[in-house]
Amino acid sequence: MNHAAAPLAYQVIPSDHARGDAQREALLAGELGFGRLFTDHMVAIHWDQARGWHDARVCAYGPLTLDPAAAVLHYGQEIFEGIKAYRHADGSIWTFRPEANGARLQRSAARLALPQLPVAEFVESLRQLVAVDHGWVPSQPESSLYLRPFMIATEAFLGVRPAQAAVYYVIASPAGAYFAKGMAPVAIWLSQDYARAARGGTGAAKCGGNYAASLLPQQEAYANGCSQVLFLDPVEGRYIEELGGMNVFLVYRDGRLVTPALSGSILEGVTRCSLLQLARDRGMQVEERKVAIDEWIDGVSSGEISEVFACGTAAVVTPIGQLKGKGFSVGDLDAPIGEVTLALRRELADIQYGRVPDRHGWMVRLR
Ligand code: COI
Repeated sequence: MNHAAAPLAYQVIPSDHARGDAQREALLAGELGFGRLFTDHMVAIHWDQARGWHDARVCAYGPLTLDPAAAVLHYGQEIFEGIKAYRHADGSIWTFRPEANGARLQRSAARLALPQLPVAEFVESLRQLVAVDHGWVPSQPESSLYLRPFMIATEAFLGVRPAQAAVYYVIASPAGAYFAKGMAPVAIWLSQDYARAARGGTGAAKCGGNYAASLLPQQEAYANGCSQVLFLDPVEGRYIEELGGMNVFLVYRDGRLVTPALSGSILEGVTRCSLLQLARDRGMQVEERKVAIDEWIDGVSSGEISEVFACGTAAVVTPIGQLKGKGFSVGDLDAPIGEVTLALRRELADIQYGRVPDRHGWMVRLR
């Protein structure tokens, strides 16, 4: 499926309805929230079996034209990524470990039988979009331009087999905090009736179907005053996996940092992997292993677990104040945010916003 080829040449077709400077500045000065406001342009790169990747362009952001028989609409052949562009104090624009996201997109593509975009083309697609829409990278504290690369199967064919045509897009959204209350601790609902992944399924791939499967339990979470769902392993229903859109960490009173080991059904978060490194750098004892749900409940009840947090590109590092499920609740939503949670969040943000040296070479300049 891979076509070794020269780097793609982009056609840049400026939008004829791009918003002016004053309108853009006014929008960026408002409450950004997450995923509601979009920039003026997007990237599109087409793929088919005969030509491989071709027709790369930056064009006006706008509705897609799809054949109603397009495979994505019927069999869910879709994958996506999430990555941010950060404005540094000198005005330059950077992104964080894009090769890791590009490699993960390739793994997701392999699992969903979609074509693999070369990692260098993935990084170039971000650069191309930011070159045109750089004015949309916000400069408010802790804000960023959330980039959403995604790929859909576009072949018009109703037989169930890998599509022979696909399109890769990148759209961009100026973003503040993912959760409405910003950095405030969130309550998490333990899903006991539903799983998001299966043994041998697509849990480790970033595909829309995984998120669709999490929406009904998410509704259950809202109904119980929680903002996210915790999923257990799909085999024994005993070990914690992830929150559907975020990975989970537990901090022990004795200083250990523990997170579920990658099991084949957990998404390998770039933030997860970066926090593990930052914790090791601090000399913390880090454990990636199976964590039974009882260990969380008992540990928080006894005080052995002193902090719990969620992490992801969108959520960064978000404290988890409370875990609830059918007939139980542990933790205190009003307790102060833990020191380790705050320190790791601060260090990661300091690297991403260029406030401290990037000792791991994680940052890539986009402009
Ligand atoms: C991200 O953190 O980028 C995610 O993909 C999580 C969610 C917004 C889907």
